[in-house]
Amino acid sequence: MSLRVGVLVSGRGTNLQAIIDAIGRGELDARIVLVISNHRNAPALARAAAHGIPALAITFKEYGSRRDQQLAMLREFQARGAELIVTAGFDKILIPEFVQAYAGRIINIHPSLLPAFAGGMAPRPQAEALAAGVKIAGCTVHFVTDDVDAGPIILQAAVPVEEDDTVETLAARILEQEHRILPRAIQLFAEGRLRIEGRRVRILPAPEPAGRMQA
Ligand code: GRF
Repeated sequence: MSLRVGVLVSGRGTNLQAIIDAIGRGELDARIVLVISNHRNAPALARAAAHGIPALAITFKEYGSRRDQQLAMLREFQARGAELIVTAGFDKILIPEFVQAYAGRIINIHPSLLPAFAGGMAPRPQAEALAAGVKIAGCTVHFVTDDVDAGPIILQAAVPVEEDDTVETLAARILEQEHRILPRAIQLFAEGRLRIEGRRVRILPAPEPAGRMQA
């Protein structure tokens, strides 16, 4: 049975697209059961619809409070049996009740090598990396906890900062890696190979293929 994934988005949705594409290529054994955006006009919603994936906008305006809005999102994911929630460019901090309901089952992508340049939406972390003069930037996939961008790290990818980089060129180079490691992390979760041990995530080895087991 494929892992049932819910995705939270706010904007253009290229990471959502990377998940959709990885599933299409057979590299990710998952099914996106629902995409929810907190913005009605997010291009990510159109990407979902173009692939026949159920997609909803659940806006602050409709609910009048962040809490009620996110509890409505939570109910929708639960109603569709989502087993893992991926925040892929979601621009709000999740309320504790949401995090609790999916404890250890929410994954976020952040465009920096955490714990450096935590917080803030793209392109702020990339701009901060450039301004800080780092030579290596990158991205991080991590489990979501109540501490923003500080949950256990699953995967990271590093990219070099080039001499003539702008925020845009650096962000684009980082984004390519986001699109690679986010589906990979979801697949590791789907295979049951991520074990949270305190602040660390242990990646368990892939099981031996059947028929090659030693007696
Ligand atoms: C990405 O840079 C992601 O790391 C950050 O927000 C951006 C979302 O981009 N959390 P997209 O909507 O997936 O294209």
